[in-house]
Amino acid sequence: MTSVNPDCDAPLLLAIESSCDETAAAVVTQNRTVLSNVVASQTELHERFGGVVPEIASRAHVERILPVIDQALGEANAQLSDLAGISVVTEPGLVGSLLVGLTAAKTLAMVLDLPLVAVNHMEAHLYACRLAEGRDVFPAVGFVVSGGHSNLYDCRSAVEYELLGTTIDDAAGEAFDKVAAILGLSYPGGPSIAKAAEQGDATSFSFPRTFLKDNQLRFSFSGLKTAVLYEVNGTPGSHREVPPLTPQRVANIAASFQAAAVDVLVGKCQQAIEQIGRDRLCVGGGVAANHLLRSELQQMAERQGVELLIAPQEYCTDNAAMAGLGWELLERGQTVALDFDVTPGLVRKR
Ligand code: KG4
Ligand code: ZN
Repeated sequence: MTSVNPDCDAPLLLAIESSCDETAAAVVTQNRTVLSNVVASQTELHERFGGVVPEIASRAHVERILPVIDQALGEANAQLSDLAGISVVTEPGLVGSLLVGLTAAKTLAMVLDLPLVAVNHMEAHLYACRLAEGRDVFPAVGFVVSGGHSNLYDCRSAVEYELLGTTIDDAAGEAFDKVAAILGLSYPGGPSIAKAAEQGDATSFSFPRTFLKDNQLRFSFSGLKTAVLYEVNGTPGSHREVPPLTPQRVANIAASFQAAAVDVLVGKCQQAIEQIGRDRLCVGGGVAANHLLRSELQQMAERQGVELLIAPQEYCTDNAAMAGLGWELLERGQTVALDFDVTPGLVRKR
């Protein structure tokens, strides 16, 4: 059957992402145009637990992966016969979740006799900047700020990354999620903290900016989270009376927490730029959707005279379009065999 999509003369890549709690598939042309980008969120399944429950996530992926792939092909007006390859995120992530995406990808690759490429989730978050920009954006300093990671990279090309620094404890998004839970705000915490902060005074509380001044490319958010916990519940051993958690107090704590987290995130990006000497900064990951972070990064980039590329909102949180990075691997012949496995904990250094 011939395809009705004018772009389908060009070969298409089917990209699959299921590393955590979003079941996602996208169709991307070789010139990196995203024809479809379908994301089935599982937020409603996990929110009452205040975080992702791995077993629930993998079962939901099993139910959703084929309809999501069908929908992505349909929205792209593409047929299976239009595909030139299958790209799938295989690291890092939840083992059961990753396995669902990889099994679907392998099955399609085997049945359709197509090449299979394996994509790193963090590298894909940064590739979202390349997709949105429509041109090569590397070399650059890369910053992935998400629920699982706060990683700074020296990106030499779309497929060559060196990890410059990471968190020694919680990731930035994890801190947003945990602080939201402490404040009784809904999951995921990032958007609800940002919303509450709109009504708050960011100077109400002076929360710690851990490592901000130490010039080493590393993050720590557990002290900030504990400072919020003690502000809300009282410091253990202290007899100071804790004020009631009124909506205004929640807003003030949320705004002060957000300001502290953003100060550190922006400060470390600036240090990475100064240390590596790149003139471009690419930012991706769920926390990059945060408006305060986006505007503070913009001001810092202007001061430093560097070009700032932040993934657009729809490519910040997990999606499969970003696994369009698979084209870079396909074009370089970096395919994987059908016995390829997932690597849940790996942060690849190339
Ligand atoms: O990239 P992502 O979808 O999944 C991971 O790879 O982890 O990121 C999810 C994280 C969550 O922690 C969520 O609270 C955070 O991104 N997030 C935000 C915002 N939107 C999502 N954090 C701060 N401000 C936001 N607007
Ligand atoms: Zn992610």
